[in-house]
Amino acid sequence: MKVTVFGIGYVGLVQAAVLAEVGHDVMCIDVDEAKVENLKQGLIPIYEPGLTPLVKKNFEEGRLHFSTNPEEGVNHGVMQFIAVGTPPDEDGSADLKYVVAVAQTIARYMTSHKVVIDKSTVPVGTADRVRKVMAEALNERGVDLNFDVVSNPEFLKEGAAVADCMRPERIIVGTDNDDVVDLLRELYEPFNRNHDRMIMMDIRSAELTKYAANCMLATKISFMNEIANLAERLGADVEKVRQGIGSDSRIGYSFIYPGCGYGGSCFPKDVQALIRTAEHIGYVPRLLKAVEDVNDDQKMKLPEFIQRHFGDDLKGKTFALWGLSFKPNTDDMREASSRVLMDELWKRGAIVQAYDPEAMDEAQRIYGHRADLRLMGTKEAALQGADALVICTEWQSFKAPDFDTIKNALNEAVIFDGRNLYDPERLRKRGFTYYGIGRGA
Ligand code: UGA
Repeated sequence: MKVTVFGIGYVGLVQAAVLAEVGHDVMCIDVDEAKVENLKQGLIPIYEPGLTPLVKKNFEEGRLHFSTNPEEGVNHGVMQFIAVGTPPDEDGSADLKYVVAVAQTIARYMTSHKVVIDKSTVPVGTADRVRKVMAEALNERGVDLNFDVVSNPEFLKEGAAVADCMRPERIIVGTDNDDVVDLLRELYEPFNRNHDRMIMMDIRSAELTKYAANCMLATKISFMNEIANLAERLGADVEKVRQGIGSDSRIGYSFIYPGCGYGGSCFPKDVQALIRTAEHIGYVPRLLKAVEDVNDDQKMKLPEFIQRHFGDDLKGKTFALWGLSFKPNTDDMREASSRVLMDELWKRGAIVQAYDPEAMDEAQRIYGHRADLRLMGTKEAALQGADALVICTEWQSFKAPDFDTIKNALNEAVIFDGRNLYDPERLRKRGFTYYGIGRGA
């Protein structure tokens, strides 16, 4: 099938590459000329396991095309994916200007029936808005052409995006036209073989499903962080509690890991956007607000421990920081806990010696050259001469370090562990002062 994807960000590029991989003929359109040129050279703008070879292979084999020409994009596919960003505007609502611009572009150039598919995470009611702006643009042109608007939200996780897209747990399709269902079934047929993963519904329910899924996961995390805060005060170990409750199949083990707060481009933005949607319709979303508040406080947990240990003035102190990205297997630092931590340390005069397996370039891009940030080449180098070790991301390579090396390199054997990677008792026996999340102070 011929498919066009507008927006070569995370969602758009992964979806495009995966659709090309199963044989569809996919044209990707983006306004960023440099990005398009780089992609043609095989340079992928994001770090995502498995994505580079997939993009290169499908580009070379002629199933994946990149262009900045919107007209070419509109002419190419019957299926027109909208996968552009929906950043938060000043009040935290999702800003739809890019989505609206793509909808207008499609209407401006289309000469035959198109199925417009919303992949971006968009508030309930966006499909109606897309339909309206397209109808207006077609009207201005004085042409009478049919089109359909479908909501088909994406559920991929950064760091596992290609695998999630290749083997989706579910494919949500929101449509008000049964004729479109068959086209969508054909498009997703290769991903739908061993059992039916497609869940059909009305458009508004599909739009809300995306937010409900992310907000549910964020709620699980904030709930567990609240239990961690209680455990800390009650002398319990939240890791034992986590295992205890996870064994109940109704609760399950996933997404109940306490830590120094959730980050990334999705949870913080989507929780906030659903809060704004609720408020716009006069509903007070008490639970969602609490989820957000708990998370904001949780990002202050490591700075609080550090303050408790070293006092308020950190001038002359150096902190080794392991992990900058918001989670492992990505170089993405959006809303990462490490950023809140570094800001707090810098405010108090400390120096940060950071190491991350993938996010070093990203940190350089965000912070540039500053005297109080030293980006180190290895996790061991980050330790040299530091007063303590702080961990913000649970990269595999941090899970079984040589503790003697850590102890010898640090001025004081202190670890502030924002991801509960180590056994507190074992570390105390080795002579460390260890601060974990919800594990007794
Ligand atoms: C999330 C969802 O998991 C995807 O299903 C969704 O498609 C995506 O958002 C999206 O809307 O695009 P992602 O943001 O890539 O994916 O990352 P997650 O793996 O969900 O992690 C989010 C944050 O929660 C990370 O900072 C992670 O450290 C934190 N987390 C996760 C915890 O603190 N505890 C947990 O138990 C799990």
